[in-house]
Amino acid sequence: MSIISTIRSKARELGKRVILPEAERDIRVIRAANILEENGIATPILIGDKQNIHELAKEHNVVIPDEITILPVNVPEFKQEKYSFFEAQLAHKNPTADQINSLCNDPLYTAGWLLEKGKADAVVAGSVASTADVIRGALRTVGVAKDSSIVSSTFLMEMPDGRVFTYADCGVVPYPTPVQLASIALDSGKTHQLLTGDEPSIAFLSFSTKGSASHERVDIVKEAYKTARKQNSSWKMDGELQFDAAFVPKVANRKAPDSPLEGNANVFIFPNLDAGNIAYKITERLAGAVATGPILQGLEKPYLDLSRGCSVEDIINAASVGVVLSTT
Ligand SMILES: CC(C)(COP(=O)(O)OP(=O)(O)OC[C@H]1O[C@@H](n2cnc3c(N)ncnc32)[C@H](O)[C@@H]1OP(=O)(O)O)[C@@H](O)C(=O)NCCC(=O)NCCS
Repeated sequence: MSIISTIRSKARELGKRVILPEAERDIRVIRAANILEENGIATPILIGDKQNIHELAKEHNVVIPDEITILPVNVPEFKQEKYSFFEAQLAHKNPTADQINSLCNDPLYTAGWLLEKGKADAVVAGSVASTADVIRGALRTVGVAKDSSIVSSTFLMEMPDGRVFTYADCGVVPYPTPVQLASIALDSGKTHQLLTGDEPSIAFLSFSTKGSASHERVDIVKEAYKTARKQNSSWKMDGELQFDAAFVPKVANRKAPDSPLEGNANVFIFPNLDAGNIAYKITERLAGAVATGPILQGLEKPYLDLSRGCSVEDIINAASVGVVLSTT
């Protein structure tokens, strides 16, 4: 069974609720909601004007079953509570009433607010909104997780032979500091463990293996490894390592003989966004891997991003991932 089929099955067992805030503008979201509901993968909650959503569905010959909840962006009895929430979230920016109201009237922020209130278990957005807007919506509502220092993202890379690796960060933080890179690594370990069920073995990648090169960029990776090691002594991790020393046991034996990973890393932490983004696309195109992601992590609750070119299946997959991540 592929990793994404396994994740969908796990989601089905968990019986959680997923908010889809872009149904008013995207028929793919409505189609995905219907499949989530029909197949019992999650209980979808759509945000938007009920009549507009039904009209959009009708234009595409889609019928929305009565079981699917559609919530308007503004429910009168919660108006004041929501306003106060966003006023507090923006307090350090001295916001105007218009700025606060614009968050209150935005489906992405409304979805995050409901998630924060415990009215759902995950949010999936980004088939219409940009990645930056989705991340901002998540940051202003559920916020950064207590034990993380930054929001980042992973890709699950499933190889043609069935092995699954986690790559990070491939989508959010261009140049992480050592503390941020350590946080990205520990969050990626958690994501890997939750989604694959496997214990993470984390490699902090560099163009140097254990001092083979000296450079300020290498120092950042070394520092990140030390920081992560201090925060988690139970998982196998090592750095700085070149990819072959992290991945090929024979090379590890020669270049990093004391490495606890022994060339068997399954979580790869790239030193910056250029490296992570390029690496996942190369693995996808040259090695025929199936990439699932970007999976946002480091948030207090799961708020998943989609590509604007996503398919209905991608939305269902992201919802399933969100459900499984909500079990932390
Ligand atoms: C995440 C992202 C939207 C933040 O952009 P930004 O311009 O720094 O965002 P803002 O200034 O609106 O930041 C909002 C707040 O979130 C904080 N923040 C920004 N990025 C954060 C992150 N990754 N984790 C935690 N907090 C973050 C900011 O410090 C700011 O806090 P403040 O308002 O309390 O001062 C931006 O890094 C981004 O667009 N990343 C995606 C890159 C991309 O395009 N990827 C696609 C393919 S690679």
